[in-house]
Amino acid sequence: MLLPILLVFLAPLALSAQTQRSVDVFAWPLSASKPTTLAHITYNSTSASVQNYIAPHFAADEEVVRIGFYHPSGSWSGVASAASNLAANTHKTVQLYLNTDHDLYHVGFKVSPVASSSKSGNSKDGLNVEVVRLRPGQMPPLSKPVQLNAQGKVEEKPVEKSFVQKYWWAIVGVLVVQIVVAAMGKD
Ligand SMILES: *[C@@H]1O[C@H](CO)[C@@H](O)[C@H](O)[C@H]1NC(C)=O
Repeated sequence: MLLPILLVFLAPLALSAQTQRSVDVFAWPLSASKPTTLAHITYNSTSASVQNYIAPHFAADEEVVRIGFYHPSGSWSGVASAASNLAANTHKTVQLYLNTDHDLYHVGFKVSPVASSSKSGNSKDGLNVEVVRLRPGQMPPLSKPVQLNAQGKVEEKPVEKSFVQKYWWAIVGVLVVQIVVAAMGKD
């Protein structure tokens, strides 16, 4: 009696790990007003594959290109890369960062030069993709991807609190000096 009911509730949980999902990754040159599709990617909790790669063409003087995606909420997440990294002669990899619910929360982009020894026949342009899973309690803060906003800038974190915590003694010292100086000026 209870088991079927339990299964009804557990099935969606199991499905969320297996479900094939898809995302469009965009290339967005800094000088362009809107992004263009770079690749259509399908992924599940363990692997991803590029269904369709559209090699981008940038203006010759284009220097920086944002690479990112839109969350279902409509907000943009991405990284910035040198436009030359997207040239045909590089080995390009898009990284999909999945959280513990297997939802995509960030993308990364890495590039390595194609080995000159393999120039012979293997020079086809393309894009690779890999899944980077967030494991609870195993992620050192250093490996956090840098969050860039739509303007390609690093999101600023407020630092006032830690500044005050660090230098409260200096602030107190300055106040004491001012009180002493004011007291001395009075007589
Ligand atoms: C993810 O997809 C790959 C390739 O389609 C498949 O081999 C793998 O079993 C899938 N993983 C899960 C958890 O469904």
